[in-house]
Amino acid sequence: MLVTPDILILAAGQGKRMRSECPKVLHPLLGRPLLHYVIETALETPHGALVVVVGHGAEQVKKNCCDFKTIQFLHQENQLGTGHAVQQAKEVLGKRGRTVLVLSGDVPLLLPSTLQRLIEAKSSDISAVVLTTRLSEPTGYGRIIRSEGAAIFDIREEKDCSNAERSIHEINTGIYLIDSAVLFSTLDHITPNNAQREYYLTDALASLAANGHQVIALETLESNEVLGINDRIELLRAERALKERINSKWMISGVTFEDPENTFIDSRSKLSPDVRIEQGCHIYESTVGAGTVIETGCRIHHSSIGQRALIRQGSHVIDSRIGNDTTIGPYAHLRPGSELGNQVKVGNFVEIKNSTFGDESKALHLSYIGDATIGSNVNLGCGFITCNFDGGPQKHRTIIGNGVFVGSDSQAVAPVEIGAGSYVASGTTVTESVPEDSLVISRGRQITKAGYARRYRKGE
Ligand code: UD1
Ligand code: CA
Repeated sequence: MLVTPDILILAAGQGKRMRSECPKVLHPLLGRPLLHYVIETALETPHGALVVVVGHGAEQVKKNCCDFKTIQFLHQENQLGTGHAVQQAKEVLGKRGRTVLVLSGDVPLLLPSTLQRLIEAKSSDISAVVLTTRLSEPTGYGRIIRSEGAAIFDIREEKDCSNAERSIHEINTGIYLIDSAVLFSTLDHITPNNAQREYYLTDALASLAANGHQVIALETLESNEVLGINDRIELLRAERALKERINSKWMISGVTFEDPENTFIDSRSKLSPDVRIEQGCHIYESTVGAGTVIETGCRIHHSSIGQRALIRQGSHVIDSRIGNDTTIGPYAHLRPGSELGNQVKVGNFVEIKNSTFGDESKALHLSYIGDATIGSNVNLGCGFITCNFDGGPQKHRTIIGNGVFVGSDSQAVAPVEIGAGSYVASGTTVTESVPEDSLVISRGRQITKAGYARRYRKGE
């Protein structure tokens, strides 16, 4: 029978080596806090309670995780070490008496399949399973010291290692599955008798082994998955590993990357076959339809893009939707709430916010369109601006009907509606609503004085 463990995530440490105001577990990896990865992996693993120990920046960490409703947070007032952090859960998890799966908030790339293997390795005669791996460069990690047989005998922190122990390549990943009764009773007896003067969780495991409990190691072969993050170099290393994992998956499923090492796609985004992505793009929490091309240096957050779209160089698309066969950019800026239909064309230096564009509408050059409803087949000329803000508390809407043609350098002072089929002459400031099929023009009549300039220059 497989155990269904309670899960305990340690996330109270300050992360001194990050040298940051921000708690370590909130540092982003491809746009998401480290801790979110660990929580999601936990949620994908069948479990009982889910407890997160917080301490340094606790309120900030809790606020950041408020979308995960099933978490129970526990406080570690002073961060006296990983053993002390686990002790904070004695009250809550001790009396439940289950097996406890201990995860580290700074080991974000762990896969649920590995936790499944850990659970499968645990039988009732084994008190603890420690996840280990072998690293060619093990500096900084606790080393696994094995006794004559293959069983674990001790885990020695780098700072407490002898030179010989430092040359051991098998390291502790900080992930464990332990019977709760033995875990909490052993923790009561550990002392901070080490180089860092901390209560080490690893000492509890060594003590179990010394007292005749079976403590076994399960080795993971994909060592990238257990990379711990203590400083910014390790953060970068983990981000590279995650990027490779995600981008390889998309390449196998039919996406072309110009430069995958320089393309940042988070784990929540979904790409379809025949998408092509040029270098320097960030795509977070978004979907991209088949055949769409995203050129160099685009940033796409929390948005969906249809099929065969073209997102040209340097465009931003934030909280927005783009239809099929639509082109935007270069250097277009879609701010939250922009919804473009199919076969829309948005050109360079066009900013759109909280506005919808019907099918086949165009705004090709240098415009600001905010809080507007634009019908289909509308042509917005160069420099068109919706004046949506009255300088006070209010934003107002502009409504433009199907088939409207707006000449260049025009403005619509909202709230205002331009009826379907109307023409707005160049240079017009529309301040009053216009009925369907009208011509609207508001500019001074042109006066031409033939020969005036020549006479002026001659002083006549
Ligand atoms: C720990 C292990 C080490 C292992 C490594 C793997 C110990 C003593 N050492 O070292 O053997 O190789 O992880 O990545 O366990 N935390 C708290 N409260 C505290 C201290 C830490 O909640 O008082 C949390 C941290 O926020 C972090 C995790 O525990 O998420 C690990 O702590 P950290 O200080 O990073 O331990 P390492 O030195 O990396
Ligand atoms: Ca660590």
